[in-house]
Amino acid sequence: MAGSRARPFGWALIGCGNVGRSHSRWAVETPDIDVRAFCDINEDAASSYYEQYEGGYYTADPARVFADPDIEIVTIATTHATHAELAIAAFEAGKHVYLEKPMAMSTVDCLRIYEAMEAAGRKLMINFSIRFSGATRAIKSRLKPAKVSNAQCMMAPADLTRWQWDPVLGGGLLFDVGVHLADTLCWMHSSPPVWVSGTGGQVTHPGGLASDEIIDTASATIRFANGSVANYLMSDAGFSEALTKWFFVFNDGEQSAVLDKHFRRATITGPDPVSGELSTETFTPPFIDRMPLLLDAIRNDTETYTPARTGILATLVVENIIESIHSGRPQEIELPDVLRSQA
Ligand SMILES: NC(=O)c1ccc[n+]([C@@H]2O[C@H](COP(=O)([O-])OP(=O)(O)OC[C@H]3O[C@@H](n4cnc5c(N)ncnc54)[C@H](O)[C@@H]3O)[C@@H](O)[C@H]2O)c1
Repeated sequence: MAGSRARPFGWALIGCGNVGRSHSRWAVETPDIDVRAFCDINEDAASSYYEQYEGGYYTADPARVFADPDIEIVTIATTHATHAELAIAAFEAGKHVYLEKPMAMSTVDCLRIYEAMEAAGRKLMINFSIRFSGATRAIKSRLKPAKVSNAQCMMAPADLTRWQWDPVLGGGLLFDVGVHLADTLCWMHSSPPVWVSGTGGQVTHPGGLASDEIIDTASATIRFANGSVANYLMSDAGFSEALTKWFFVFNDGEQSAVLDKHFRRATITGPDPVSGELSTETFTPPFIDRMPLLLDAIRNDTETYTPARTGILATLVVENIIESIHSGRPQEIELPDVLRSQA
């Protein structure tokens, strides 16, 4: 029977930093996962994870994880610049991969990962956290594809010493949080993005970033193939307690939905089916468990919940926003063949 299996899946984490903690907890809490190894180029980080979560061993060398036949799934939660090479090496070693966002820092690298995944016949799930929220899922299931939406990520002035701002290691806020906005919009609009016009640049830290290429603020309009449109706003210009860091409004032509409280709360307004009067409902359903979704896709040989194409698309949108901001011109978004065939 599809889904049955005699032994648990051997699992390893590469990248024992902040978000690695969540991944370790999810792995430990999943009955069919056998925690095998913790890996980080900072061996002390790997060792402290090993102390806390146990498992077979810790190592500073990802190659040891890839060569371990008892490891079937690798979670990669490292700096953005390392995602492509680590994910490709994992696929070449025959592992399934749970990869942090952004999938990679360029569409070209995303496509290299995709090809390695296809060649290996293994699964890839991208950790687009907003998609695992019960509130986001409720909006997705109750609204028709969005016709008009507003998406923003607005945070307190950022710590510019973090690697996320480094042009090589992180690529700036758009690759850090901007990909979440892009992915959520593409999901809610259920249609490929075809055009984007962006402005912004260095608005909150003029001249204060490591490279002229790095953007702290992006304000963009995105048009989708089905004619729907979205506003996209991302900056570290100041946190609002009222709107919280992440704030979305989706309108499907009849109903509207607000997603706020760090994508935990959904408020849906629409006409009552009987009276026609507008009514509003607010709810905060729990997040769904992530690891079991990957295990199901592996067992049943189905697409993962957040497959490669979601990661490719989010990076593609962000690249086009950056290009539009730097060039001052709108961009027609060219979908790679793999997205065209799956759109
Ligand atoms: N999905 C989400 O909601 C979410 C939230 C936060 C962070 N993230 C993502 O998670 C990833 C990690 O972010 P973080 O905040 O945990 O960063 P972090 O700096 O806390 O941790 C990254 C770790 O990776 C290690 N590392 C770097 N290169 C390595 C390599 N080649 N091999 C092995 N280890 C290596 C570092 O030593 C560090 O311990 C990033 O992609 C980030 O965007 C996702």
